[in-house]
Amino acid sequence: MNEQTTPAETRRAPVLPDAQTVTHVKHWTDRLFSFRVTRPRSLRFRSGEFVMLGLPDDNGKPILRAYSIASPSWADELEFYSIKVPDGPLTSRLQHIKPGDQIILRPKPVGTLVHDALLPGKRIWFFATGTGIAPFASLVRDPETYEKYDQVILTHTCRNVADLEYGRQLVEGLKDDPLIGEFVGDKLTYYPTTTREESPKMGRITDLLKDGTVFRDLGIEGLDPDVDRAMICGSLAFNKDMQVILEDAGLREGANSDPKEYVVEKAFVG
Ligand code: A2P
Repeated sequence: MNEQTTPAETRRAPVLPDAQTVTHVKHWTDRLFSFRVTRPRSLRFRSGEFVMLGLPDDNGKPILRAYSIASPSWADELEFYSIKVPDGPLTSRLQHIKPGDQIILRPKPVGTLVHDALLPGKRIWFFATGTGIAPFASLVRDPETYEKYDQVILTHTCRNVADLEYGRQLVEGLKDDPLIGEFVGDKLTYYPTTTREESPKMGRITDLLKDGTVFRDLGIEGLDPDVDRAMICGSLAFNKDMQVILEDAGLREGANSDPKEYVVEKAFVG
């Protein structure tokens, strides 16, 4: 935390427990925004994990939701990517935050979308819909991802082209990033698709996997449990459909305590 701003911030909002200060807000569409906050000095997390964050309600009671940390574990600040739900208890308020505001952040990271939950492999797939890209925004900026795998494939399916922009800019900036660029090299493949607006690649990723389009496009024979590892993050229906595809290919669901070939987690939606 910036020592010069601490006394002023404390005077302005002294009551929030686990308070962090908003440093940056970007609105991507009328339904999507990202923001950064100061990082608690004690917070250590593994890329892909989430924390509980939120704001107090009118009575001062915290409204907290699970948010994947979108920034890499080496970054000074914490980044999050959120949907705006007009009547959502939290996001209807959270979408109005500005730099200098305070939010509540419980510094206890957890989650299954972590490298520890997967057995060693050669190729890793990050399958996301909507704001489900957030944990992968962290993982694609983590050197460990490139140390562990020869190929990293990030798929992102959204309704409209504008919904892809956060991920597109993130990936575009990676190659030239002074910290992570040399790890990324040519290992990262980005595969964005849209379902409700014309774009170079249309369709649900699930359909494009089932009909073989993805494999033809990427010059891959198919999913192989000896080679492929996967992480899934999106809506409940998406996660279930992806799990069927991976299980049919012989991949099994892993956990921190029992690493296997894929892991899954629901994206924050409310
Ligand atoms: P679709 O437009 O065909 O519903 P949402 O904004 O509703 O969370 O959806 C985000 C993206 O995820 C949309 O492109 C949507 O496609 C896609 N999607 C939703 N459900 C599934 C599913 N079960 N399998 C694959 N993609 C899905």
